[in-house]
This record gives sequence, C-alpha cells and structure tokens, in this order.
Amino acid sequence: MIRAIYPGSFDPVTLGHLDIIKRASQTVDELIVGVLNNGGKTPLFSIDERVSMLLEVTEGLSNVKVLSFSGLLVDFARQMEANIVVRGLRAISDFEYELQMAQTNHKLNPQVDTMFLATSLDYSYLSSTIVKEVAFFHGDISEFVPGPVVAKVQEKVLAADEE
Ligand code: PNS
Repeated sequence: MIRAIYPGSFDPVTLGHLDIIKRASQTVDELIVGVLNNGGKTPLFSIDERVSMLLEVTEGLSNVKVLSFSGLLVDFARQMEANIVVRGLRAISDFEYELQMAQTNHKLNPQVDTMFLATSLDYSYLSSTIVKEVAFFHGDISEFVPGPVVAKVQEKVLAADEE
C-alpha cells in the first residue's frame, strides 16, 4: 500500500495543482492532499474554504483524500503513515527551495522521501499568487483555476472592492 502526501497552501487550488493531483493519484494507492494551516502567512481563503474547494474539485478521484494539517509536514506524514511527499516542479527557479525542503524533511524523518512531478507545460507559469494578482485587477482567471474556484475567487475580489 503506497500512500503519498501532496502538501501545499492551495490558496486557491489551481489547474496546475489539480493536474499534479490527478497524475500523482494514478501512481500511488492513496494520495492525501495536505492543506497547510500554519499561522505564518495570512491566506486569502480560510482553511475550511481551501479544504472545501479541494474536496469539490477532486470529487471524482476515488483514491484522493483532502485533509488539513498544521505543524511540521513530517509529523503529519508520520501520523498518516505516508512515506512519500509529492511536489510539482515548474521551473528551475522552484528547484532550490524544493530541494532544501525535501532534504530538510528527509533529515527530520529519514523514512520520508520527496518525489517531484514535472508540471505540465500548460501550467508551468501558473501559481496561486499569480491567480490572485490577476483576479484582483479583474482579469480572467478561468484558464487558471477549476470552474467552481473561479466564482469563489471573484467573491473575494468583490468583497475586497467593497471594503
Ligand atoms: O504551496 P506551498 O506554500 O508552496 O507549500 C509549502 C509547504 C506547505 C509544502 C511547506 O511550507 C510545508 O511543508 N510547511 C509545513 C512546515 C514544515 O514542515 N516545514 C519544514 C519543511 S522545510
């Protein structure tokens, strides 16, 4: 039984994330999407909103679970009995940070290994930050995020406009 964790902030989930979720879920028995709930950054979406959007867009994927976690990823992995962490690599600029995280996690828990999936070319430019930037200036994000997420981001933009 191979269980892997795909961790991230998912603020919000993008089509790039969803592509990694679909492809990773085809290579493992169970994929847990771990949504980070740490205090550091102030996210646009609450933890419940991020989990709920992920549940909605992964509905048809029977071996995918969505859970939130706080604290260290390796502790969550141990708790879930998962030894593999999946991360998407978009460009060489991601590499340094991703390698540092993978090596730190492995040092903290030698049973945990990170596997990288190359992001599909279609989404290699995409990030949650870019989505929010475009949305806040009223750009079209329908090619960046799954359908149900478009409206949720637009609601946040409207609320911010009214402030
Ligand atoms: O989507 P992101 O923000 O790039 O994901 C980053 C994430 C959630 C994978 C990373 O910040 C993380 O694992 N945080 C949990 C805290 C932790 O374990 N830190 C040590 C790893 S260097």
